[in-house]
Amino acid sequence: MKLFPFAIVALLSLPVAASQVEVLHWWTSGGEAKAVEVLKSEWAEQGNQWNDFAVQGGGGKSAMTVLKSRALAANPPEAAHLKGYELHEWASLGFLRDLSPMAEHLGWYPQLSPMVRDTLSQNGALMAVPTGIHRVNWLWLNRKLFERLGLTPPTDWEHFMTVAEQLKAQGVTPLAIGNEPWQLAVLFETVALGEGGKAFYRKAFLEQDSATLTGPDMVRVLTRFQQLRAYVPEKYAGLKWHQATNLLESGGAAMQIMGDWVKGELSAGNYRPGEDIDCLPSPGSQGLFSYNLDSIAMFKQRDPAQLQAQGELARLLMTPRFQEEFNRVKGSIPALTQPDMSKFDRCAIRSYHDFQLAERDGNLLPSMAEGMAVPTNMRQGIMDVLSSFFNDPKANSEQTAQQLERAMRSTRSGAEQK
Ligand code: BGC
Repeated sequence: MKLFPFAIVALLSLPVAASQVEVLHWWTSGGEAKAVEVLKSEWAEQGNQWNDFAVQGGGGKSAMTVLKSRALAANPPEAAHLKGYELHEWASLGFLRDLSPMAEHLGWYPQLSPMVRDTLSQNGALMAVPTGIHRVNWLWLNRKLFERLGLTPPTDWEHFMTVAEQLKAQGVTPLAIGNEPWQLAVLFETVALGEGGKAFYRKAFLEQDSATLTGPDMVRVLTRFQQLRAYVPEKYAGLKWHQATNLLESGGAAMQIMGDWVKGELSAGNYRPGEDIDCLPSPGSQGLFSYNLDSIAMFKQRDPAQLQAQGELARLLMTPRFQEEFNRVKGSIPALTQPDMSKFDRCAIRSYHDFQLAERDGNLLPSMAEGMAVPTNMRQGIMDVLSSFFNDPKANSEQTAQQLERAMRSTRSGAEQK
């Protein structure tokens, strides 16, 4: 078709439509919200509009419920924070856009480490873009409190118990944690890593080996886990992970075992990670790195404008600048290879260093608690068993090991999805 000159002028003077995306996530604590601000402002800098779809609740359970209802109503958001098995389950159901054409065209693959690429791929197709790598097996401790009481940071679980007793005797809550099942799962997983070791962790959660799940090591891990019940805050029912972090900051509790989103919270409260609050590998897990890879997936769309907006967002997330600025605030480390770590805090530098060593030595372990190791329904089954066990002083470790094995076996059919 031949356009008349005036028509060309009219086309050129049309305003370029801003891209709009609605993004579902559960980054709602103080530190997390600051990280989302980084993303929003970089997106806005490009003249685009961000429609925030934030659902409260650490661990993402409520966010996932809301997402399901939107998807069932055939109205999913353009993008969502989906990770690990959850990502694969949505991809298997055919909801997600395959980002491989973009990845190939824009040369993303060399920027993704094998773990990152593998976690985000389904049958060779890239189903999400990574936003950062969180380490889960961390022990955070209030340095001033430790110094004042002359305590040394625990490096194994036996030592942890001794320190916890000393703290308790001084009237200080040893361990900041709430009773949410996912927080307890994080704690349990670190005990499994530290008491059981890498081979045990792999056999129990990656291979789901029945003999390991019911064997003496599991019984020992469960017993240790339950002993920790003596050291939680008096008001631990309903305590959110970031409220637990606030307790740690103020000296209301001495330690917290949690992934490094804690660090985002510390910085938001003007505490210096690695200085006021120290970061150490969780007891007994030196050299191991249990990871939680955050990622954003795009829901399939027909509208070219929405497709275009998704593409632009994915491109932004893959820039080194975004990865560095976002992860500095979020507490994680960039998910692209060879990041510039010069502006990161001590804990992030340690995390990056430990990540590289663990990657080299085969010590990277997917976090069960964070949905990286087992399918969603199996993880739910594990969390149910663990939280009733932890909260029942009469519960028995041998029987619980049997229950755990049964809960995992009964959900195993879903395990083939990945
Ligand atoms: C997410 C983190 C988030 C944390 C607490 C985890 O499941 O991967 O990005 O900060 O939950 O909300």
